[in-house]
Amino acid sequence: MRKKIVAGNWKMNMDLNEGLKLAGSIDKYFRENPSGKTEVILCTPFIHLAGASEILKHGKVALGAQNCASEASGAYTGEVSAWMIKSTGAEYVIIGHSERRTYYHEDDKLLYAKTILALNSGLKVIFCCGEVLSEREASSHFLIVKRQLEEGLFILSEKQMDSIVIAYEPVWAIGTGLTATPEQAQEMHKYIRDLVKEKYGNDCAKKIPILYGGSCKPSNAAEIFSNPDVDGGLIGGAALKKEDFTAIVKAIQ
Ligand code: PGA
Repeated sequence: MRKKIVAGNWKMNMDLNEGLKLAGSIDKYFRENPSGKTEVILCTPFIHLAGASEILKHGKVALGAQNCASEASGAYTGEVSAWMIKSTGAEYVIIGHSERRTYYHEDDKLLYAKTILALNSGLKVIFCCGEVLSEREASSHFLIVKRQLEEGLFILSEKQMDSIVIAYEPVWAIGTGLTATPEQAQEMHKYIRDLVKEKYGNDCAKKIPILYGGSCKPSNAAEIFSNPDVDGGLIGGAALKKEDFTAIVKAIQ
């Protein structure tokens, strides 16, 4: 049985107090209502990590960052390294989110460098891929996702793939209220799993969690999660409200 995962991506929202308050209430909720076999992760802004780590320390909710530097350490003003993230107690880092690819021009080569640094620091990576609307309309979505995975991820060894979670996020569905239909999600997730199988074999393909992201909310989560190749979600907007986020976790259980 593959692990189910629901990860909240807080993006650049909430000041420190607001963020720690939300982390505290989510932690409390899952202490009282254990998520069973579903792993719950909060991916917070950098400044929340140390405080959130303290709050989540003895509970069941895991912690992650949303990005890391492409260099290990040194004179890179303003950057935060994978190792620094690890030292807060965080276990995960999101790499390759479409907002990083688009607004900060992060390409496949750079994302691969970040992925390697994250893995070498002992972090697990939630590696995002997904096409923009024009690519889907031109029916090139499979090719785009294939390229993103081949160039950014499939250079890893099979052993390293044990620390990877893939998140398929069609860019046209992120924050837009548009969601991929369950059929579209399943079709792409199966395609991704087949690519992993081709490259790393059946065991790896069977084990790797593939999450869906893009306007996932309590009202559509159960239907999306019911697909055989959808192992959970990467949740943006709906992760900012305890009620919505916990309802989405419930939808997968
Ligand atoms: P959304 O964001 O749920 O707000 O669409 C998902 C994401 O970008 O990870």
